[in-house]
Amino acid sequence: MKKIYPLLWKSKVLFLLDQRALPEKKRYLACRTLKDVQKCIQRMIVRGAPALGVAAAFAMVLEARRAFDKLNSQGKGYSFTQLLKYLTLAGSILQQTRPTAVNLAWGIRRMLSKCLKLKGARPDAILSGLEQEALRIYREDVAINRKIGFYGASLIANGSRVLTHCNAGALATAGYGTALGVIRSAYSQGKITHVYTSETRPFLQGSRLTAWELQQEGIPFSIIVDSAAGYFMHQGEISCVIVGADRIAANGDVANKIGTYTLAVLARENNLPFYVAAPFSTIDLSLGCGQEIVVEERAPHEITAFRGKPLAPAGAQAKNPAFDITAGHLITALITEHGLLPAPQNGKLAQFVRQGGGTA
Ligand code: MRU
Repeated sequence: MKKIYPLLWKSKVLFLLDQRALPEKKRYLACRTLKDVQKCIQRMIVRGAPALGVAAAFAMVLEARRAFDKLNSQGKGYSFTQLLKYLTLAGSILQQTRPTAVNLAWGIRRMLSKCLKLKGARPDAILSGLEQEALRIYREDVAINRKIGFYGASLIANGSRVLTHCNAGALATAGYGTALGVIRSAYSQGKITHVYTSETRPFLQGSRLTAWELQQEGIPFSIIVDSAAGYFMHQGEISCVIVGADRIAANGDVANKIGTYTLAVLARENNLPFYVAAPFSTIDLSLGCGQEIVVEERAPHEITAFRGKPLAPAGAQAKNPAFDITAGHLITALITEHGLLPAPQNGKLAQFVRQGGGTA
């Protein structure tokens, strides 16, 4: 596999591969503060739920360094309580940047709990402990994706033509990908003959990012417009659908890129399996059902213009929910790093998580 690095941590600086510029330009932007990371998340320079969790973890390291510098410059010296206060506040602001992707909050929580464990340590030990934790989250994510790929590939029949939506690939994670990880793994086993990637209006994660990844990998693919999915399913061109997730509620309802729900309904109508690939960190058992998930509403100009070029009459109104909710009963199986959960509804998900997974 050609390695793709959406995030790089070098000389205590976080470099993010600018996903607005792909596939034309491959450029990295440097983040030296948590605010830099926040801006990059808002602008979709980094995106995809697991990648947001990893970016948030490094943002917390940057914030801790800033907090120490600030306390020193004020001549206040080190105070653990003050540090924790700064980190908690910064984390809660960062978390609001993209409210649907639960991995963002998960990454922040994990860094805060690491910080609490470092209470009593010297400032340099705290900074290095936090940095090590962020690096651990980064490395774990790649390992988790490979496991998701391994379990998911077992669901794919020989000769499959798979449809995926948005980008749940290496770019949306620390590397390898969730839904695209399953595709990578099943393709390497010779099971996939073709991948269909829907464009994914308005940010075009499918036609720009997933297509770019598939091309690098040499996996045969076709881009289709979002509204062509039903046509290809009905023509018998598609064997199954695999998507990622931004948040999964306790009853198995899934928030993912807008258009996912439409694909799930179409898959059911056409008797096709519909799989969701996601790590445990995307499961949010604190929410009973999908209706409780906050759906991020993005700016209308993302629909009415692309890279500054108008696509609609001046002054046209647009509504831009970034995600939708797919009911658990439409999902054939959930693919996680701890195994597969078929039909993740009726309280099965909470039990699956509590017992640490298991392949049914
Ligand atoms: O708005 P985005 O591009 O961040 O949305 C991404 C998705 O919807 C992905 O499917 C999801 O985050 C899973 S990525 C492994």
